Amino acid sequence: MELSPVAMRAFAGLLKQRTGQELAASRHWRIETALKPLLKDRDLPSYESLAAGLADPRDVQLADAVVEALLNHETFFYREQAAFTQLMDGGIEELAASRAGSRKLRIWCAGCSTGQEAYSLAMAFAEAGDRWRDWTIEIIGTDVSAGVVSRAAGGSYTQFEIQRGLPVRQMMRWFVPEGEDWQARPELRRMVRFERHNLLQSAPFTGTVDVILCRNVLLYFAAEERARVFDGLAGAIAPDGLLMLGAGETVLGNTTRFEPHPAHRGFYRPVI
Ligand SMILES: C[S@@+](CC[C@H](N)C(=O)[O-])C[C@H]1O[C@@H](n2cnc3c(N)ncnc32)[C@H](O)[C@@H]1O
Repeated sequence: MELSPVAMRAFAGLLKQRTGQELAASRHWRIETALKPLLKDRDLPSYESLAAGLADPRDVQLADAVVEALLNHETFFYREQAAFTQLMDGGIEELAASRAGSRKLRIWCAGCSTGQEAYSLAMAFAEAGDRWRDWTIEIIGTDVSAGVVSRAAGGSYTQFEIQRGLPVRQMMRWFVPEGEDWQARPELRRMVRFERHNLLQSAPFTGTVDVILCRNVLLYFAAEERARVFDGLAGAIAPDGLLMLGAGETVLGNTTRFEPHPAHRGFYRPVI
């Protein structure tokens, strides 16, 4: 089954409008693979009929399903492990020193997928013994996809997912086997909350956060939308807050609202 340029434009246009992501020509092959199961579910004969269905105002769920299928939710526990260690031992400690009065830290995992990033942080705090006793650590995970947000909030992972990045010792300590899956313990779940949120819109909370992780999310955004997201992140972060991007990402050339942090390599701070 061939994907016509018209259908391709319809899917790519929808994805950009809903999420800010651009499907570059080199990634067009993904559309076919990603949408094939939807054709089957909907019993549709071709990609063209699926594209035509997007124009039907009575079928709002179809557009949601197409966007959902085109999103890439790849994630795993402690992805880029060294960056987590650097964050916990360096940046977080420095922020904590200036928050010793309130004893509160707020962290936003923007584009959190199924939650492994947020739970990795929760484990890192929970494993630090007495260090964070009497502190309120609030980890907010958000994603544009309702499906992954619901999975993250459930805190349940398959055997395959739980083994990706998570050493057995931590798996046994923080997750309980439940049938074939592994359920995050209440101690972890108390530290995290998840919400559906589109990064093209303003932050889903009041006040500011101390740390933002927005990793492997903006890679495929169109330049204008990416800059808009950085504006939103700059408005949501404390003046001395830390922004963490994915290993291959940078703010340079993408925004003037953040700059490389002079003391913490690989992290960014808002330009005040
Ligand atoms: C590749 S995953 C990265 C997950 C995690 N941050 C990590 O690094 O492992 C990218 C996530 O960004 C989400 N995303 C894409 N566009 C978004 C948008 N406009 N607003 C919020 N989340 C978005 C996707 O749904 C997906 O779950």
